Amino acid sequence: MVCLGNICRSPLAEGILQDKIYKQKLNWIVDSAGTAGYHIGEAPHHLSQKVALQNGINISHQKCRKFLRKDIIEFDKIYVMDEENYAEVKSICGNDWNENKVDLLLNESYPNENRSVPDPWYGNEDGYHKVFKMINEACEAIIKKYK
Ligand code: 4NP
Repeated sequence: MVCLGNICRSPLAEGILQDKIYKQKLNWIVDSAGTAGYHIGEAPHHLSQKVALQNGINISHQKCRKFLRKDIIEFDKIYVMDEENYAEVKSICGNDWNENKVDLLLNESYPNENRSVPDPWYGNEDGYHKVFKMINEACEAIIKKYK
């Protein structure tokens, strides 16, 4: 799960998918990262933590990290939140880029529509609730598709 800062959207995506993996007793590994390194080592944004917890998911243990070129080798699937993340991941991966592994997360819930998960960073708590709902639907679709 990849966004820009690994502070707002992708920590929610990691926590939401991890929760479903746990409930379905699947042995998948999920992680998240940001294409930028502004917040390395930090916990998720307090509003991402709050909204997750209101939905029964604790993401407070997560630590921000930057997306690495080797991630595209190590992971089967890379989900990005928006087109800018997609372009950044492509650039970071260089010759290891594999188009088949990378997709916009919302293409799982709205196939071929290339919708983005909007960045809630500059907005209020309402944006974090909206983002939670979008990511939750997409993660539900991922579980149904691959389990
Ligand atoms: P995210 O949101 O990509 O969903 O984690 C952002 C977090 C931090 C910044 C921008 C977006 N920032 O500019 O520091």
